[in-house]
Amino acid sequence: MAKPGSILIVDDEETLRYVLNRKLSKSGYQCDEAGNAEQAIAKLVLKPSDLVVLDIEMPGKHGNELLPEIQTRFPETSVVMASGVTDTRVIAQCIKDGAQDYIRKPFTLDDVLLSVTLALEKHRLELQLRDYQKTHQYKQGLRSLFLGTIRTLVSTLEANDKYTAGHSQDVTEVALAIGQRLNMNSEELDDLYWGALLHDVGKVAIDPRILNKPGELTTEEYRHIMTHAMVGPHLVQPLVNDAVVSIISHHHDHYDGGGLNQLIARDDIPLGARIVAAADAFDAMTSDRPYRPAMSLPEAYIEMKRCSGTQFDPVVVNTLLGLSQHSI
Ligand SMILES: [Fe+2]
Repeated sequence: MAKPGSILIVDDEETLRYVLNRKLSKSGYQCDEAGNAEQAIAKLVLKPSDLVVLDIEMPGKHGNELLPEIQTRFPETSVVMASGVTDTRVIAQCIKDGAQDYIRKPFTLDDVLLSVTLALEKHRLELQLRDYQKTHQYKQGLRSLFLGTIRTLVSTLEANDKYTAGHSQDVTEVALAIGQRLNMNSEELDDLYWGALLHDVGKVAIDPRILNKPGELTTEEYRHIMTHAMVGPHLVQPLVNDAVVSIISHHHDHYDGGGLNQLIARDDIPLGARIVAAADAFDAMTSDRPYRPAMSLPEAYIEMKRCSGTQFDPVVVNTLLGLSQHSI
C-alpha cells in the first residue's frame, strides 16, 4: 500500500532494534537505529526520517519527552510509539502530542509493520492535503486578483463613455435576476455573474471611433465591433472556467441561429449566454446611445416581444418581462 520510506528505530534494547530493523528492511524501508534520545536527534538533524519508532523508557531523556521535540523540529516526520508503558495517561498524552499510533510491548513484528505502514500512509495523505490546500488557496487568491483587475478595466472603459457607463454592471444585475427566476443553482449563478460582467471585455480591442460612432454603422464596422465576442474569451480564458468563456463567446448569438458567424442555435446556446443576450439588449434599448435616445420601457417591452423566438429565447424574454413589471 505504502511507498517505501525511511525509518529511525529509537530503543535502548539493541536486540529489539536489530529484529525490528531486519523486519522493516525486508519490507522495503530504509532503517537506521538510535539507542537514546540524543543519538536520535543527532541522526534526525543529519537526515530527517519519514517515521520514528520510539520507545519511552530509555536512559536519559524518555521517548515521551522526545516526542514533542521531534514534532516541533521535524514536522515532516511521523512518530509511532512502541513501549511497555501501560499507564493510560502517558499513552493518551503521546497521542495528544502527535504520535500516530501506540504499540504496546510485547508486540509481534507484524503489529509494528502494520502500524508503521498505516502511519506513513496517513502522514503522506496529510502532507498531500496540506500541499493541495496551499496551492488551491494560492490559485484562488491569484484568480481573484486578476478578475478584480479585469473588472476594474471594464468599469474604467465604460466610465470613459457616458453612453456605456455602468452597462456591464446593470446587465449583470438583470441577468442574475433572470437566472434566479429560472432556478439556476449557485454555481450556475456564479458563472452567469462573471459571464455577464465580462461579456463585453473584448471591446478593449475595438476601435473607439467605430465603437462610439454617432449614426449608422457600415456592414464592415458592424462586423468589426462584433469581433469583441471572439476577442473577449481569449482575454479571460486563463482566469475563468469554460462555462464563463461560453457565455462571453455566445452572448450575441441569436436564438434561431441567425446571428453573425453563428454555429449553434436554440438550447445548444448556453442558457447563461441566452440570458446575457436578452439582458444586454434590454439595457441597451433603455439607455441613450450616440445615434438614438433611450426607448421608453413600454417600447422596449414591445421590441423584446417582437424579437422573442428569433433573436431571443422566449422563456428568457418572458422571465425578463415578468421581472420588469415588478422591479426594473
Ligand atoms: Fe457585446
